[in-house]
Amino acid sequence: MKKTILTGLRPTGNLHLGHYFGAGKNWVKLQDDYNFYLEIADVQALTDNFNNPEKVRVNVFEITKDLLAIGLDPKKVHFFIQSKIPEVAELTVFYSNLVTVSRLERNPTVKNEIAQKKELFGNNGESITYGFLGYPVSQAADITAFDGELVPVGDDQLPLLEQCREIVRKFNSIYGEVLKEPEQYLSNVSRVRGLDGNEKMGKSLGNAIYLIDDEETIKNKVMNAVTDPNKIKKDDPADPEVCMVYYYHKLVNNNQENLNTVCNECKAGARGCVQCKKELIEKMNEFLKPIQEKRKYYDENPEEVVKILEDGTNTAREKAKEQMAKVRKAMKIDY
Ligand code: TRP
Ligand code: SF4
Repeated sequence: MKKTILTGLRPTGNLHLGHYFGAGKNWVKLQDDYNFYLEIADVQALTDNFNNPEKVRVNVFEITKDLLAIGLDPKKVHFFIQSKIPEVAELTVFYSNLVTVSRLERNPTVKNEIAQKKELFGNNGESITYGFLGYPVSQAADITAFDGELVPVGDDQLPLLEQCREIVRKFNSIYGEVLKEPEQYLSNVSRVRGLDGNEKMGKSLGNAIYLIDDEETIKNKVMNAVTDPNKIKKDDPADPEVCMVYYYHKLVNNNQENLNTVCNECKAGARGCVQCKKELIEKMNEFLKPIQEKRKYYDENPEEVVKILEDGTNTAREKAKEQMAKVRKAMKIDY
C-alpha cells in the first residue's frame, strides 16, 4: 500500500521558479511512490481574495496547467478543486469547535500574514475576517478529509501542520481514534531567492521569474538582477557567491564544467557581467523551453485540463465521502 501524500496551493497567480525549485520539482519525484492528492485550494484563496473571485477562477486553470507543464502526471496525481468537495467544508465546521480563537491568533503563520496585511493596508487588523483567521482549521480539514499522511510543505507552513495535528489529537481523544496525524514530508529543497537578492522569490515582492515568462521578459528581468556590488569595471575580479546571476546559473544550469568556468572567470576578473547575464538568459530560456512547450499543449486543449480536474475531483470526493462517514459516525451524527 502506497502512503498518501496531500498538498495544496492557492490559485492566486502563475507558478514561478520559487515554486518550482522550492516545491514542484520535488512533487514530480514523489508522484511515482505515493498516492498523491493535489488540492487547488480555491476556497482558501478566497479567504484573502473574496472580493476578487474572477482572479481565483482564472488561476485555478492557470495553476493546473503550470503543474501539468512541470511534469506532474494526471495518471499519478489526483488534481482536485477544493470547492468541489463539500465534505471539506463540512469537516471544517466540525473542527471549528476543537480550536480556540486565541490559539489561531497565536499561530505564527497566521500572525505573520496578519502583520503583512497591516503593513500593506495600514489598519489595526479590523479587516481580518473570521474566514481568514480560521483558514488553518480549513487546512486541517483539507489534509484529513483524504487521510493525508505526509504533507510536503515548506517550513513556513509548519505551524499550520502543527495546528492540524492538534485538532486531530483533540478529535481522537473526544470521539475515538478515527483520524491520522499527518507529518511533514521533509525534503532538501529550500526557499529560492529573488533576482533582487531578497531571501524569497514572490509575486508580491515583484522579483519572480514565472514559468510562462517569454524571452523578452526573461531578458529584462535578468538584465536587472543584482550582481556583486564591488564589481564596477568589466575586468574587476568579483565574488560570484554574492551575485544573483551566479545563483541562478547554479539553479538552471546542470553543466558543472560550465558553472566552474563562470565561477573561475568571475573571480579572476575575466568575465563581464553583461556577458554573464546574456549567458544566463540563454540557459534560462533553454530550461523553460520544454516546460513552456508542454504548457502550450494544454493551452490549446483546455477541455483536457477540465477533464483532468473532473477526474481527480471525483476520485478525491469518493475518498472524502468515506472519511466523512467515519467522522459522522464517531460524532454520533450519522442519522
Ligand atoms: N496554505 C498553503 C499555501 O498557502 C496551501 C494549502 C491549502 C495547503 N491546503 C493545503 C498545503 C493542504 C498543504 C496541505 O501554500
Ligand atoms: Fe555575477 Fe557573472 Fe558579474 Fe560575476 S561576472 S559578478 S557571476 S554577473
